[in-house]
Amino acid sequence: MESCVELPMDKTSPLPIPDDAVIFSMIQPTGVIHLGNFLGAINTWKQINDKKRPDQKIIYGIADLHALTIPKKDYSSQLKTNRMEAIATLLSCGINPQVSTINFQSMVGGYHTELFWYLSCLAPLGYLNRMTQWKDKKSGDQTKERLGLFAYPVLQAADIMIYKGTHVPVGDDQSQHLELTRYLSERFNAMYNVDYFPSAKTLYSKSKKIASLSNPSKKMSKSSEDRLSMIYVTDSPESIREKIKKAKTDSISDTFYFDPVERPGVSNLLEIVSGFQQKTMKEVEKDVSQLHDYRSLKEYVSDVIIESLAPIRSNYTKYTNDKSYLESVIQQGYESSQEIAHKNLTDIKKIIGLSNDF
Ligand code: TRP
Repeated sequence: MESCVELPMDKTSPLPIPDDAVIFSMIQPTGVIHLGNFLGAINTWKQINDKKRPDQKIIYGIADLHALTIPKKDYSSQLKTNRMEAIATLLSCGINPQVSTINFQSMVGGYHTELFWYLSCLAPLGYLNRMTQWKDKKSGDQTKERLGLFAYPVLQAADIMIYKGTHVPVGDDQSQHLELTRYLSERFNAMYNVDYFPSAKTLYSKSKKIASLSNPSKKMSKSSEDRLSMIYVTDSPESIREKIKKAKTDSISDTFYFDPVERPGVSNLLEIVSGFQQKTMKEVEKDVSQLHDYRSLKEYVSDVIIESLAPIRSNYTKYTNDKSYLESVIQQGYESSQEIAHKNLTDIKKIIGLSNDF
């Protein structure tokens, strides 16, 4: 069975996700998201949300426990704000809490971390040691290295498995963590001779890897110091125009086409347009074929972004001013995820031999 499924990115195609699927994903609370996060992940979440079939379950979470894996001093008030902003962002981007459950990982944290422990007892150190994110993020100084960062992927596997998630929409950078999840499901099933955990499939969309506006050979990234390199989904129209105007392009200024190798800057702008309009690159190229100078191209791109982000921006203001609504969404999300997690953890403990019905 294929362990990865590609999602079509246009508005009309049905999604290749079965009726009984449990779709699960999470993002880290890093505050307001930028175009790269939106077109790379949240837009796919929204598509799945919009095309949900009656028996499918969707749970989207804010990975606030994972946010602690890189300890920061005096972080608590910022984490509090980031968590709130993350929920407001998901709602503003069109995730509908009547359709998809939205939760905080830490609210159902007891279930996630308990399963994390059971999986830790099955996860080989060598496997975790080979994870690219661990290799990239670890400092190399054993006296400073934290267990949490090392164990991060096992908690991620537990997040998915506690809901018996079957389909997980994530970006490329998460594919190794999903492989580990499948590995741990198999190990568990084999160890206890059960067929309990499904093998979670990675759902990826050919969605968009958006590059930095100022240096299109790099990913658009929050950690960049350069404010012109990224557009936040809540940026004002003026700020969007300014950033697109200053975006790095090239010297061919009379025709615009997609060629990420030779023309990374222009291709990135076209990629953004294609992501927002959910059009193929051919269609986008056709739309811009009558533009013959950078000024018009950049105006066109700015218009598309501004128009697409307008509802997100106004929703965002509305939701961040309505804390009691946000709290009700979270409470409702907590209740429905807690119910599933509780039931599953009870089954899991029974399988392991930890239930008290002697
Ligand atoms: N590691 C993911 C990221 O940084 C976030 C995450 C945590 C996640 N738990 C998850 C994603 C479970 C999918 C499923 O983007």
